[in-house]
Amino acid sequence: MQAQTLKVRVDALREEAHGVRSFIISRVDKLPFERHEPGAHIDVTSPSGIVRQYSLCGDPECFESQTFAVKKEEQSRGGSRSLHDEVKVGTELSVGAPRNLFQLAETASEHILIGAGIGITPLLSMAYRLAARHARFTLHYFARSKQHAAFMTLLDSPPFAAHVQLHLGVEPEALPAQLDACVLEAGAGAHVYTCGPAPFMDLVVQSAQARVPADAIHLERFKAEPAAPASDASLDSFDVQIASTGQTVRVDADHSIVDALASIGIEVDTSCGEGVCGTCMVDVVSGEPEHRDHCLSKTERASNSVICCCVSRSRSPVLVLDI
Ligand code: FES
Repeated sequence: MQAQTLKVRVDALREEAHGVRSFIISRVDKLPFERHEPGAHIDVTSPSGIVRQYSLCGDPECFESQTFAVKKEEQSRGGSRSLHDEVKVGTELSVGAPRNLFQLAETASEHILIGAGIGITPLLSMAYRLAARHARFTLHYFARSKQHAAFMTLLDSPPFAAHVQLHLGVEPEALPAQLDACVLEAGAGAHVYTCGPAPFMDLVVQSAQARVPADAIHLERFKAEPAAPASDASLDSFDVQIASTGQTVRVDADHSIVDALASIGIEVDTSCGEGVCGTCMVDVVSGEPEHRDHCLSKTERASNSVICCCVSRSRSPVLVLDI
């Protein structure tokens, strides 16, 4: 069973920066979109048939249209290239319902958003919400040059301009100090959010950890990195038990939990299949997961209350899942 999809039409395309195009879409059935929270992403099926996840980056209070932006990747396996080369105004696409693994912390006293490159997209939708609520926030945007910085017309205008700090052409050796400076003034109760290339986000986390607790640092990954190496505690094979029926299925070394469940007729929604999108998340009733995804928060990992079934495994002989 794949997640539910919606037919949409591309109403406008905008060149937002070098190699970055935004897509403004509306529902083919003319109905308004359902509410989504800032930070959400959707699955987009490109004309080539490849499904990729893209953050919604428009105003979350706009229900007539949604906006997502795509960077044309040189190494694209067809997703971003197809969206750039084959989509015109009027093209119909399939998109999934918004999912959100990157939410604003409602109780934060202050929000520090730190994005690099195309990582600006989820932070932009957060900025819409924070500006509408007159919340205390700063959006730090790192880009190679002004030509590589997307949405600059928007970010240079009210209500965002007063909150945006642009960091252009920062050399790698200067980056840690600049990121330290971004979080230097973080007060008690501040939350830090980051999206961008993995090494960039690692540095943001490093800087932020010196100022705020781990559960006040939020990040969004869109590309699978190499899977985390299996720990010594990871089991080659283990059993998964279905909490609602007691049925058990063995997961061997060559198959995922998703595969094993499918073999007994239980379909888990999947999208990326690489541990980045969170579509296949299932609640854990008991047992100790071996987390091998890139999307759960530190708190979720530590609690062992949820597992991404496409890549993660088990450290206990039996994992009981809330299915
Ligand atoms: S399908 Fe995307 S995380 Fe599992």
